[in-house]
Amino acid sequence: MTASQSAERLGREIVARLGELSRISDSAEGITRLYLSPAHRRAADLVATWMRGAGMTVRFTDLGDVIGRYEGTRADAPALWLGSHIDSVANAGAFDGTLGVVTAIAAVKELYDAGKRMPFAVEVIAFGDEEGRFPTTLTGSRALAGRFDQAWLDERDAQGVSRREALKSFGCDPGKIAVSRPQQGSVLGYLEVHIEQGPVLEATALPVAAVSAINGASRGTITISGMSGHAGTVPMAMRQDTLTAAAEMILAVETRGRATKDLVATVGRIVVPNAAVNTVAGETTITLDVRSPIDAERKAAVRDIEAACRAIAARRNVSIRMDMPYDAPAAACDEGLIKALEAAMASSGTKSGRMGSGAGHDAMSFKDIVPFAMLFVRCKGGISHNPSEYASEADIGAAAAVLCAAIERLSENM
Ligand code: GLV
Ligand code: MN
Ligand code: MN
Repeated sequence: MTASQSAERLGREIVARLGELSRISDSAEGITRLYLSPAHRRAADLVATWMRGAGMTVRFTDLGDVIGRYEGTRADAPALWLGSHIDSVANAGAFDGTLGVVTAIAAVKELYDAGKRMPFAVEVIAFGDEEGRFPTTLTGSRALAGRFDQAWLDERDAQGVSRREALKSFGCDPGKIAVSRPQQGSVLGYLEVHIEQGPVLEATALPVAAVSAINGASRGTITISGMSGHAGTVPMAMRQDTLTAAAEMILAVETRGRATKDLVATVGRIVVPNAAVNTVAGETTITLDVRSPIDAERKAAVRDIEAACRAIAARRNVSIRMDMPYDAPAAACDEGLIKALEAAMASSGTKSGRMGSGAGHDAMSFKDIVPFAMLFVRCKGGISHNPSEYASEADIGAAAAVLCAAIERLSENM
């Protein structure tokens, strides 16, 4: 079989598995697989089956992650980590996260089917907490990096369910969460294949590209308190309307986001408790997500947004509380691993490129702990977090071939 035939076969096999995963959803229509939901549980079990079929031994962590291990030539060999996530946003596409997990399993299966062992073990990790059901996210990868805060167990989702409760119903023991930084030299690095989720590769006609760095992110909420009242009787001049205050704040967030190159600022959700057509909103909470390749610029934007919201609140006679518990610093990918991916692209006949990542990924949790790199795959129209998310079988096959070649290259370099 030629290299291009095996890339085609890999593309076909991966797309078939992505189709299977896409049918696992908590909603009757579309894909909704929130962290620790029943659908996440079923997806984790299916992924574990695939891992076993690729010659891996499988364990579940007490944060709901699935880890498959394919032994190397020696039992004490270091491990190469591969992976991505199997949770999804609500009404998601079929590729975000799952592509990286399924492609990693396919790469190990290539080794297994060929009876090949590497001078390192390969561990495939299907993370569960990438999309953010709770205020803090990436907890699986953060725990593997030795960065887990027990206070996160008390965080609650939009329905008021705590992380601790959700972990228990998934079958995890929150008292046994393993948090440990890998010993020096025990992990060679972490490679993650992911759809680009933006339009750059399509515009530059590249099927894949190595990621240079992942933008940092701040996330949290702004809760606005005013006075609820009767929509028919409270005169306009006497209102303490938190929803109109939120409207102004949302526009202030957009204005600040536009003011700095490469910075983005988003309000993605408005929650108005006890909202009614005939009630002036007495309380409103909006979410805030700010990202940038430069941490100082991101932090400055969060400060400016807070000042702008406070000024709006003062003028409108309401008060605000801003909570920004989530802070993920920008993280550069490892030059050695990027070079291995680039050499793999060259050897598998794939044009290479480099680009930054606007989206967050589990890889960023490993900053300063485990070297990491990512391979982005072109997606149609740059569309993601949307049911029409799409990457072609040919591009997926090319990405899988690059990953397989990168694994070979790392083994030659050892
Ligand atoms: C994950 O999709 C994120 O970047 O928020
Ligand atoms: Mn993702
Ligand atoms: Mn996503």
